[in-house]
Amino acid sequence: MPRRNTVGVCVAVLLAAGSASLAHDGATGVIKQRMDQMGTLKSAMKMIGDMLKADAEPKQKTVSEAAALVQAASGAHLVALFPEGSLMAPSEATAAVWQNRTEFEMLARRLEEAGGSLAQSAEGTRQDVVGAFTALAETCKSCHEQFRLKSN
Ligand code: HEC
Repeated sequence: MPRRNTVGVCVAVLLAAGSASLAHDGATGVIKQRMDQMGTLKSAMKMIGDMLKADAEPKQKTVSEAAALVQAASGAHLVALFPEGSLMAPSEATAAVWQNRTEFEMLARRLEEAGGSLAQSAEGTRQDVVGAFTALAETCKSCHEQFRLKSN
């Protein structure tokens, strides 16, 4: 059945292309772990971003859940995924992660604190949530500018 085979091949190609753009093909071990963890941070930001767009009043539960994700993926949890000697393809980290460790660790801690402020804002007004969300996004950006090849 040649027709069916062609469809099968197309599907396989599409699936391969899809996964390559999500997680870098060939990433294993700690590099894959940190890419996945960064993916979690991205989802947390999207949760808040989507909520702020859709709802006039922020949902406490969504804010708390996103904040918990950020807190679990920052500070020491983040730093631990960048051990010495782990700069190799397909990582998009810069060598500065290891050369300028103090600054890198400071930004990882700042991310954790920003996650804490987001958690607190769950009890507050929309403006509090927007403020915490903005501070968080700025922390992602500051770190990426220095420590990630593709700075956003
Ligand atoms: C302390 C530094 C630091 C902070 C803070 C930080 N990142 Fe990253 N991020 C990195 C580095 C370094 C990489 C590249 C990792 C690699 O490829 O080995 C990265 C990669 C990523 C990636 C790409 C993952 C992939 O699959 O290749 C995304 C998405 C991302 N970060 C999102 C975020 C978001 C969202 C935030 C804020 C909520 C954030 N990051 C905060 C350092 C940071």
